[in-house]
Amino acid sequence: MNQPQTSNSEFKTIGVLGAGSMGSGIVQIAATNKHQVILVDLNEEALTKASTGLKNILSRLVQKEKIDQATADNIMGRITFSTSTKDLAECDLIIEAIIENLEVKKKVFAQLESITSPTCILASNTSSLSIASIASACKKSERVIGIHFFNPAPLMPLVEIIPAVQTSETTKIASRKLIDSWGKVTVLAKDTPGFIVNRVARPFYGEALRIYEEGVADFATIDWAMTEMGGFRMGPFTLMDYIGNDINYTVTETVFEAFYYDPRYKPSFTQKRHAEAGWYGRKSGRGYYNYADDAEMPTPNKDEKLGNVIFNRILVMLINEAIDALFLNIASKEDIDLAMTKGVNYPKGLLKWADEIGLDNVLSQLETLFAEYGEDRYRPSVLLRRMVREKKTFF
Ligand code: NAI
Repeated sequence: MNQPQTSNSEFKTIGVLGAGSMGSGIVQIAATNKHQVILVDLNEEALTKASTGLKNILSRLVQKEKIDQATADNIMGRITFSTSTKDLAECDLIIEAIIENLEVKKKVFAQLESITSPTCILASNTSSLSIASIASACKKSERVIGIHFFNPAPLMPLVEIIPAVQTSETTKIASRKLIDSWGKVTVLAKDTPGFIVNRVARPFYGEALRIYEEGVADFATIDWAMTEMGGFRMGPFTLMDYIGNDINYTVTETVFEAFYYDPRYKPSFTQKRHAEAGWYGRKSGRGYYNYADDAEMPTPNKDEKLGNVIFNRILVMLINEAIDALFLNIASKEDIDLAMTKGVNYPKGLLKWADEIGLDNVLSQLETLFAEYGEDRYRPSVLLRRMVREKKTFF
């Protein structure tokens, strides 16, 4: 049986399907790493936009003296743009970054399998769909894998490598080795909803929204607490406005459904209404904040005691989620911490953070919330209880 490649030098030609924000970013990385790259999108306009965007990014890098003109020309020279999927026939690896729709992705994977050689690895950049399900569209499903980049792909160091139950060891090892050779930080994640980052990060948004809905504090105050007390680069509402409330809401809803409606992942009406109103955030000029030129940003209530209540509540919920991901073998403890610092810029790994503030402290805060609300959302992870009982730490 033909097995997918094992050596990086064998990945001569890389195909990227979908020329949106993720596809163009992945193309930039692969071409910078000296691969021949073919970017395919059915939409001609998307390809033109991607090509112009890439040229602009490379000129900016030349202006900033990060690369010289010859390097920029070589990078651009290695990229071919096409509207025909058939042009991907000679690729050694194809990374799919088209719309987030399972049926469409399955059709595309079946088509890719029919035109490529059996040794070509077929990867999906999906944020929320099951890799096993995408792989099931292929006869040789062992060559299918999830390779999940973060936005913007050329800048964010993290890449989650997600083998499906069908994926072969060779496919897993070769894919990870290749992405490592591109200077990315790879983590291995189980094929479960949200993988590592999009699962563990849910309370950053969900608990912030809940705190707002209860009237504890407004958006600006919650954002201030998380940046000032927590050292997060952006507060949850600023970040949701940046990601887009439509996209962030959809991810939350998908994760919630995929977890068989576990109340821990319950989406928020506040965010749903913002998305329904078209208040997506920065891209629509209005989200939780108003981004019009003449609009005034609200001032936070800089009450330290309140700030600490908000920060601690969100932090213990995040830590609980990270501990539960470890408990359920979604990834190793090292990879869970790396994922959050390298994929979403958290100031510290959550498990390391838990060690620092004390696992007994985390457990007692969660137990207080659980007792007060009586909601499953606040149930402490079994692993947390066990570790406190055995007086253990993660590192
Ligand atoms: P996008 O909407 O910007 O781009 C998708 C592109 O795919 C469009 O240009 C569209 O014309 C093209 N397309 C659609 N169907 C196609 C087909 N059958 N064949 C060829 N091209 C087709 O999407 P974006 O944001 O780049 O996301 C792409 C994928 O990456 C999705 O699966 C998404 O979940 C995932 N992702 C997105 C992230 C983000 O922050 N936007 C982060 C990580 C993953």
